Amino acid sequence: MNTTPSAPLKKLAILISGSGSNLQAFIDAIHHHSLSASIAVVISNRPDVKGLERAAKAGIPTELVDHRQFSDRNIFDQQLMKVIDHYRVDAVILAGFMRILGSDFVRHYQGKLFNIHPSLLPKYPGLHTHQRALEAGDSEAGASVHFVVPELDAGPIVIQAKVAVHKNDNAGSLAQRVLEQEHRIYPLAVKWFCEQRLVLTPAGAVLDGQSLPASGFQFQHV
Ligand code: GRF
Repeated sequence: MNTTPSAPLKKLAILISGSGSNLQAFIDAIHHHSLSASIAVVISNRPDVKGLERAAKAGIPTELVDHRQFSDRNIFDQQLMKVIDHYRVDAVILAGFMRILGSDFVRHYQGKLFNIHPSLLPKYPGLHTHQRALEAGDSEAGASVHFVVPELDAGPIVIQAKVAVHKNDNAGSLAQRVLEQEHRIYPLAVKWFCEQRLVLTPAGAVLDGQSLPASGFQFQHV
């Protein structure tokens, strides 16, 4: 009989604005036991999005903090923090969350706040990443999971996955290929964090006691 006491599951808050396919990747990873964590709450800043349906179907509590009901960003951020902190989570996962968060919010969760961005950062922070990669004639594109810092899409990178850009790609086809990789690398990065193998230090992201390179761990896919 195994008598080793198991550590309590790490609790995640997942923030979404839309389809929630990355959220689904977390739900699936937990279901298949490749990620040992629990999703305490899914929070959306938009009503009626598919991600909220996915959460409800999985029996996960949902909250709506609709940014349009707040007169300024700071008050929205404060309300978001209040809702998140009610669930006493260990990590806050931005998964297609399309609002820029202020520095008070970011500092409040520093070291346990993650984002996924659909480009090989530091290339193409901000929007329209796939179109910009195509217009630049890049031969590869990809996604990056990073710790969030106050500057947009600029925190230490944990992991990146690359895909080849095909000659006949458009922004949609490239986005789809990148998204498949997002679904692999995001739960993996959070698994490392939940296992206390991944930490943010003043010198950057550290995995298993080793500083990660500036471009993060390079995920090899087949
Ligand atoms: C993903 O490409 C993510 O990288 C970006 O927004 C998209 C969200 O997709 N920030 P989903 O809502 O997880 O399906």
